Amino acid sequence: MATLKAVRGTRDLLPPETALWNYVEATARAVFARYGFGEIRTPIFEDTALFARGVGEETDIVSKEMYTWEDRTRADSDSAQSLTLRPENTAGVVRAYIEHKLADTGMLQKLFYIGPQFRRERPQRGRYRQFWQIGAEVLGPAWSGADSALRDAEVLEMLSTFLNKLGVKGWKLEVNSVGSSTDRPRYIAALCEALAPVKSRMSADNQRRAETNPLRVLDSKDAGDQEIINGLPKIADFLDDASKEHFAQVLATLDACGVAYTVNPRLVRGLDYYTRTTFEFTVPDGSGLGTQNALLGGGRYDGLSEMLGGPKAPGIGFAIGEDRLILTLQAQETAAVAQKLDAFVAPMGVTQNAAALALAQELRRSGLSIEVGDGSFRLKKSFEAADKLARRMVIVGEDEVSSGILTVKDFSAGEQTKVPRAELAGFLRA
Ligand code: HAM
Repeated sequence: MATLKAVRGTRDLLPPETALWNYVEATARAVFARYGFGEIRTPIFEDTALFARGVGEETDIVSKEMYTWEDRTRADSDSAQSLTLRPENTAGVVRAYIEHKLADTGMLQKLFYIGPQFRRERPQRGRYRQFWQIGAEVLGPAWSGADSALRDAEVLEMLSTFLNKLGVKGWKLEVNSVGSSTDRPRYIAALCEALAPVKSRMSADNQRRAETNPLRVLDSKDAGDQEIINGLPKIADFLDDASKEHFAQVLATLDACGVAYTVNPRLVRGLDYYTRTTFEFTVPDGSGLGTQNALLGGGRYDGLSEMLGGPKAPGIGFAIGEDRLILTLQAQETAAVAQKLDAFVAPMGVTQNAAALALAQELRRSGLSIEVGDGSFRLKKSFEAADKLARRMVIVGEDEVSSGILTVKDFSAGEQTKVPRAELAGFLRA
């Protein structure tokens, strides 16, 4: 019988790698908590209309990549509802904001989420059909200060703190402003006019985008089209005074907080809801992502809540591609990757098994992470297993048990030390 495998574009996450995932998520929770964020968990599938209206019918995500099915309420029922596995989480968060009348609290909402998203993309390294995002949204009524430039800078400063805390090397922040919901149509009209005489010289993909979603032409990676793209009008020249002022304030606040950035006038991003600030964090080539070097992206939105039938609720948010973040940490060999147990307790023969497990129990109770071998291991094998799993090995032989002095081998220092049992937990913790 043919063996069954995980579906193309999906994958299993196994130990020890899951320890790194947990560490990344725990770090996100700890950092976000310091900025006053609370967790939101929205359903993994939603009404298809949510994404069509929220993300935009003409985006690649909605037009090509969604997992959508007709769901019959009962097996024998004729009436069906169109449901979709969420391709992103912003629309779901804003739906929940409206549904639970969070606007009535009068408070600014700072919500974060961690969970799987689904897009039918061509799988490659760093691009999957089920992938994980760690994201957040800051939104509320205008009088809660949700549209303040301070919030944009706060979110970006938090992200830089998070990446630095994980030890990500060489990240780059690119920012842009795509203007207000009235600037954009003016810009798109100018863009279409400029594209009309040149689009036939562009790649097939860009010719299609020029028709369906002209802004997307700008962030095309197609090398042959770059010269034409460079000659197209820039959105910065179409911003109204309020949007210009907002962007200037965001940059000044980033400067005040010492967050480094570059302004990329072509950064428009692939979802329809963005207004004003948009941003992406990328990592340098060689960080394990191949061409998928966008670690995370986000931006400000105004009008999304209204589009979903809710009250005015400007907001700003981001989503980190967690799979890409993990690949980067592994490729950069950051310290977080090499997390090991505190010690491996190795009994020297079956007769020491009971003593070894009792010692492991004592050490675990004191909060240390411990693996324990068993007496069937030969010393060399024990050494190899212990070295892979733990920072140190504690040898439990007849002598150790009778004298109460244990032999501890430190793998990185290559030293062996005799430690009295009463001091062992403290020694291993150091
Ligand atoms: P997005 O740019 O579509 O934005 O996705 C954010 C991040 O998710 C990307 O930068 C990338 O790291 C990761 N990602 C996207 N697709 C895949 C995939 N197929 N495989 C692996 N990683 C992927 C959003 O989703 C917006 N909701 C972000 C946002 C929140 N904007 C405002 N609030």
